[in-house]
Amino acid sequence: VVLACLFPTVVTKSVTRLCTTKPIVTVNGKFPGPTLYAREDDNVIVEVINNVQYNVTIHWHGIKQVRTGWADGPAYITQCPIPPGQSYVYNFTITKQRGTLLWHAHVLWLRATVHGAIVVLPKLNVPYPFQAPDKEVVIILDGSYLLRVLTGQKYLLRIINAALNEELFFRISGHRLTVVEADAIYTKPFETDTILVGPGQTTNAILSADRPAGRYMITASTFLDTPIAVDNVTATAILHYTGSLSTDAVTFSNPPPVNATAVASSFIDSLRSMNSPEYPATVPETVDHSLLFVVGMGVNPCNACSSGIKVVADINNVSFVLPSVALLQAHYYNVSGVFTDDFPGRPPTRFDYTGNNTAAALGTTTGTKVYRVKYNETVQVVLQGTTFIAPENHPFHLHGFNFFAVARGIGNYDPEESPETFNLVDPIERNTAAVPSGGWIAIRFRADNPGVWFMHCHLEVHTTWGLKMAFLVENGEDPDQSLMPPPNDLPTC
Ligand code: C2O
Repeated sequence: VVLACLFPTVVTKSVTRLCTTKPIVTVNGKFPGPTLYAREDDNVIVEVINNVQYNVTIHWHGIKQVRTGWADGPAYITQCPIPPGQSYVYNFTITKQRGTLLWHAHVLWLRATVHGAIVVLPKLNVPYPFQAPDKEVVIILDGSYLLRVLTGQKYLLRIINAALNEELFFRISGHRLTVVEADAIYTKPFETDTILVGPGQTTNAILSADRPAGRYMITASTFLDTPIAVDNVTATAILHYTGSLSTDAVTFSNPPPVNATAVASSFIDSLRSMNSPEYPATVPETVDHSLLFVVGMGVNPCNACSSGIKVVADINNVSFVLPSVALLQAHYYNVSGVFTDDFPGRPPTRFDYTGNNTAAALGTTTGTKVYRVKYNETVQVVLQGTTFIAPENHPFHLHGFNFFAVARGIGNYDPEESPETFNLVDPIERNTAAVPSGGWIAIRFRADNPGVWFMHCHLEVHTTWGLKMAFLVENGEDPDQSLMPPPNDLPTC
């Protein structure tokens, strides 16, 4: 077992962007933060030292944290935050995963600047299931950069969307890319000129530097299929072939329009698990829990607000409220009164979700509710989007597991007909997938990881409004099927 050790210190640092200088919270004074390199099967130990005046936690987005929920990181779900001046050691093993992921702060909106890449290499002497690249490059979509390439070489781009609230189209003018991995799962390779990557998602793609030497524009542009008040700014970078001059003209092709739903859909539909003997897709064939989560946005009465109302986001009309004690601790120590396990508490009302029914959104309740499943049971969740307030894509992230995205559709999910479209052979396996605007997705996973696992929209604004819930997975019967005891330095609330 190899130990990857990092000792990150969370500090503030002044950064200048768009002509303004501001103090931001960083790890080790770096923005983005340091890349965590590890190999599959490594035990990773990271001591996080909090030297800022805010509470901090770090989440290892997409790492399954088998039996080590204490190291997962979402504040008030698996741990109380690390207070100023204190530290906490995250200790976990990377089990059956290899590829690109990201780490980020998981308290309030701190992940805006507190984030970085995780690169999990295959086990020693295990090759990639695609032609080995000449070089590897981590690209975090949160700023601009210059990518230098040498004619004739192949580059493995590890693309990470670390944005708070935007799904992004990534494109390199004049070049096609071969997608080989998403969310640290190998895919059937396919060629594309546009990659869609949502907040929290990652995509690995091979770039062949086989065009005439020169300079080519790289764009990361917003995808939002119903553009309302959108921060529609395109970030750019330059692909620079060695030997060209910085004065050479830049080849530029337009990014897709902001509402290019067809481009987004065709990218999503092309993503398939590799499903080879070495990397099988272990899709649950039957389901023990079949759930319908209606994803809504609504308005609740608010006495303290000048408008008298406030916008909330909810699942089955429950807007999740964070507790003041971490759910995992409450579960482990049997503390009552912190949460109830009756999520959602009432079945979703059936109506035309994607029709014109704004008024139906009123009357959302609040609660801190979890959904309880037994060890190793299989779960299917259909996430149904609605047209309340603003129809929008919701990139949903599940902690503690990968899931298989077995189907997606536009309009209302139909329990009779829609299951016929499910792909149970090679659906993409990932940790974050978007509920399409005015449509639905179906996901499946096996609850083989005991603990309390957060599920939420990875658009930070929607998480804040309550678009979140948690699964409680009970211990199995064998000792190696139970949650490990908490570490001694686990912060208290
Ligand atoms: Cu990347 Cu719960 O988050």
